[in-house]
Amino acid sequence: MEVNICKSYEELSKKAAQLVADVINQKPNAVLGLATGSSPVGLYKELIRMHKEEGLDFSQVVTFNLDEYVGLPADHPQSYHYFMEENLFKDINVPKENIHIPSGTTKNYKAFCEWYEQRIKECGGIDIQILGIGSDGHIAFNEPGSSLSSRTRLKTLARQTIEDNARFFDKVEDVPIYAITMGVGTILEARRLVLVANGEKKADAVAKMIEGPVTSMITASALQLHPDAHVFIDEDAASKLTMRDYYDWIQEKKPGAPVQ
Ligand code: F6R
Repeated sequence: MEVNICKSYEELSKKAAQLVADVINQKPNAVLGLATGSSPVGLYKELIRMHKEEGLDFSQVVTFNLDEYVGLPADHPQSYHYFMEENLFKDINVPKENIHIPSGTTKNYKAFCEWYEQRIKECGGIDIQILGIGSDGHIAFNEPGSSLSSRTRLKTLARQTIEDNARFFDKVEDVPIYAITMGVGTILEARRLVLVANGEKKADAVAKMIEGPVTSMITASALQLHPDAHVFIDEDAASKLTMRDYYDWIQEKKPGAPVQ
């Protein structure tokens, strides 16, 4: 896992966005895995800036979102469909038919989840997956205890997640209790992973993800199993890491490393 500790949220967002842009520039029909929540908003702003100012082209890009709340229609302001439209899609040129977001209103969740997995395969698999991390260590909505080989499925959200996400709703009772989420196994199949996290509230989860044992109790720790995982965090989110000197040392020495 490559650990990048950045001075600010803006810096980490820009660096993470650059990795995504590199993939699109190398492969114009790249398949992107997308996340919602506060963490990737800066990354999406930077991708929009690159699209508008530098011509970053999404016309052949295909996207798959990690998750969606069960019961919220696409036009609900707290749905992840709505979030993606507002925070990214309306400002870039990705064709509507290339966008995939789990349905929160399907009549058959099992069939939908199978179709979603199948669709990812048909599109050639995810080239780069953007992730955030929950304060309980989840990636997507793979709450503590989720199998590390889990696939896209219906999940019951943890109380902690419901409380964390209540800030987006009028009251905590309005937060949906269930979600459709890609599994940890689905996420691990992406060719490259990019996780962004900021703020002190994430410090414990970030330390467990990077330095703790691989465990289904912190599903983000599964990133340790991935050969090409990049983590971008700010100073606050990095504050509980014990190997801080080593991560700084690696970043300092990286430019002088022999080309592989
Ligand atoms: C959202 C998602 C979640 C969030 C996580 C952090 O699609 O998959 O795992 O990334 O809950 O949320 P924020 O960024 O709002 O702190």
